[in-house]
Amino acid sequence: MKKKRISFAWMNHSSSMTITSSQPLLLGLMFFSFIASKLLRTADFDLTGQLVWPGAVLLNDYLAKNAGILQGCSVIELGSGVGITGILCSRFCRKVVLTDHNEEVLKILKKNAELCVSTQSSISCAGLKPKKLEWGNSDQLNQILLENPEGFDLVLGADICFQQSSIPLLFDTVKQLLVHAAPKCKFILAYVSRAKVMDTLVVHEAIRHGLQINEVDGTRTLVKNLEGVIFEITLR
Ligand SMILES: C[S@@+](CC[C@H](N)C(=O)[O-])C[C@H]1O[C@@H](n2cnc3c(N)ncnc32)[C@H](O)[C@@H]1O
Repeated sequence: MKKKRISFAWMNHSSSMTITSSQPLLLGLMFFSFIASKLLRTADFDLTGQLVWPGAVLLNDYLAKNAGILQGCSVIELGSGVGITGILCSRFCRKVVLTDHNEEVLKILKKNAELCVSTQSSISCAGLKPKKLEWGNSDQLNQILLENPEGFDLVLGADICFQQSSIPLLFDTVKQLLVHAAPKCKFILAYVSRAKVMDTLVVHEAIRHGLQINEVDGTRTLVKNLEGVIFEITLR
């Protein structure tokens, strides 16, 4: 049977496979979906953070209406994207650490943090510190905790639950942060529902990590045609 080798390259990644002439279309499609799923699992190709997501709108709205929660606090945000939530927090908090795993997103975060500081006038603006943090990476988290030995009052996350494989790692990181600053620390998650399986997984993983997860009354709402809710997650 006639065989053909196809190759695929995207930026500095490349892959190839051999297909038979009788099945090129099907195998080609399988190949491309395999590559796409491989790429989406690596931080290099996760460019989701270059947009402002509905979860950020939900979280910023909640925090703006309840700014007392932020007053004088130290905050770490997970999966910050462009940093819009952190920038809002910087108006009220004494310290804001913005984190993400993607290098391109971190570049944008750094630029936005610099812009925020340079454009501050009479309005106070806490130092915004962008840091690399991949969920589940204890070395990166320990480095952040070494630089912030007292830990954080609040952990924030907006629209960060969209890939099932990363949810256990997300909660590993959240648990480590909550334990480090126990009992004062809580995790505020702006959750946007896109799939029932994820709705269940998030609650399941919180409980499996020994955490208490409560929906904040009155926060369930439609945001950009999707259902969103604010969860408060604490140590049990
Ligand atoms: C959907 S975006 C949300 C960005 C921002 N919070 C918002 O609501 O606009 C998800 C963010 O989480 C980051 N992220 C995804 N998986 C991650 C992981 N395993 N570790 C750290 N950050 C991650 C992405 O790079 C991206 O910035």
